[in-house]
Amino acid sequence: MMVSIFITLLALLGITDSVYLAYEHIIHAIPPCSSGLLVDCGQVLTSKYAIFLGIPLGIWGVTYYALVFAATVVSFFMLRRYSRWITLIATTGGFLFSLYLVFLQVFVIHAICLYCLGSALITTLLFLLSQTEFSLERKQLLVSSSKFLYKNIIKKLFFQIDPEKVHEVMLSSGEILGNCLPARTLAAYAFRQTNSSLTQTIDNITFPTPIGLAAGFDYEAKLMKILPELNFGFETIGTITNHPYEGNKRPRLGRLPLSRSLMVNKGFKNEGVKAIISKMSDRNFTIPIGISVGRTNKAKLKTQKQSIQDIIATFEKLEEAPLTHAYYELNISCPNLIGDITFYPPQNLKELLTAVETMKLSRPIFVKMPIEKSDKVTLKMLEIIAQFSINGVIFGNLQKDRNHPSLNPTEVSQFQTGYFSGKPTWERSNQLISLCYKYYHDKLTIIGCGGVFSPEDAYLKFKHGASLVQLITGMIYEGPQLISDITLTLPVLLKKDGFTHISQAVGSTSR
Ligand SMILES: Cc1cc2nc3c(=O)[nH]c(=O)nc-3n(C[C@H](O)[C@H](O)[C@H](O)COP(=O)(O)O)c2cc1C
Repeated sequence: MMVSIFITLLALLGITDSVYLAYEHIIHAIPPCSSGLLVDCGQVLTSKYAIFLGIPLGIWGVTYYALVFAATVVSFFMLRRYSRWITLIATTGGFLFSLYLVFLQVFVIHAICLYCLGSALITTLLFLLSQTEFSLERKQLLVSSSKFLYKNIIKKLFFQIDPEKVHEVMLSSGEILGNCLPARTLAAYAFRQTNSSLTQTIDNITFPTPIGLAAGFDYEAKLMKILPELNFGFETIGTITNHPYEGNKRPRLGRLPLSRSLMVNKGFKNEGVKAIISKMSDRNFTIPIGISVGRTNKAKLKTQKQSIQDIIATFEKLEEAPLTHAYYELNISCPNLIGDITFYPPQNLKELLTAVETMKLSRPIFVKMPIEKSDKVTLKMLEIIAQFSINGVIFGNLQKDRNHPSLNPTEVSQFQTGYFSGKPTWERSNQLISLCYKYYHDKLTIIGCGGVFSPEDAYLKFKHGASLVQLITGMIYEGPQLISDITLTLPVLLKKDGFTHISQAVGSTSR
């Protein structure tokens, strides 16, 4: 409040300075100004640069300061967000323009006008004060502008290109940006913010925000440095497997815009555990990083026993490597694999979990669950999972039902193979989160995943019982600013419901 008042007072001072300069310009007078080293008001104010687009700079100054003054005063009483956006846009524009004017004085006119310099000082102060005082509104403004840019330009361009190509480009550019300090700083300036109401320690891991990148997007471990700057609170790499796999036959990825979904048929395309270890070794991460592990997608893995041995071999390599990842995911629910190995029947699941348990893994482990199974089958699986040292479950993976009501049949008919992410997973994932919360919330951490496209979507998953939420498809359709949008909006949604911390909202509709 005090800073806002100071901004209005500075704007008033700026108005006074500009009114004086405008008046002197109109009556063709030169304000008294001692001439000394470089200082010469006359030379500046009579130069051709004293007029911009046919209007004297003094009048531009009055208009600018009056706008800042009016917008800040209005923000005391109403339309707080939008008035502050106007102040932020005006002070940023004003600051950049005054930099240009100072440059002109020093390097082009070779003279300085003290009144102009005073105005530049006021403009700089206004810029710095509004940036710090209205930092929340600044983030909201940047998030809204990025969303507009993404949906109206970037997405339209991307959606003209083969989706798998776009995915590769996103991963490579994300890696380059992550290695570039200015890019990281810029991304952090636009999107990163902390809010203590969203920070949680779960299974001994501290998550700065409860929104994570789900397994499958960063399967080559390229985005660990850039994601924290987008305000992701955690990320799962993979799914990786013991042996590399070049991926199923194309198409491996497709878009279903009307269904708000993606067709996925990668079948654990990945470089194999050794390559991932060499990329991640001896690296420290700013957010918790998880590694999703699945069975190698090769026809030669014919039996359940061979598949379990293959999974255990991956865990062994990861445990022996100098890695600082925070958790594991055990992916038992990928629907795109060769052969008919399944870990859903109780005996098969028990065998797998027994083998994993004997490893005494050094990090928490979460099981990635299917969403196509009935409540009864899912409860049976949960009953088994709860008997082992498994920390939690993720609900869930892709939608297998090609006739699901939220899938547009014409869009589905373009693809002979593959399963579906995004909105078709939304409802069932929520139902299963609720179900699991009802029976196992004191035993298993629940991570919600599927169809999150907005802050409200994410919030609903928490209310159903998820302590953390992951996403991929929402980010593709809405843009990477979605994560910042969610983390900016969640505290507002919490407040509306009378909560002060995200953990209070968890399960509030499932109790
Ligand atoms: C391109 C793509 C690749 C995926 N690959 C994996 C994977 O390797 N392992 C996994 O557990 N889930 C994978 N998934 C499933 C997602 O992790 C997630 O469970 C599902 O997409 C629902 O979330 P969403 O609607 O936010 O995308 C993949 C999803 C997509 C879109």
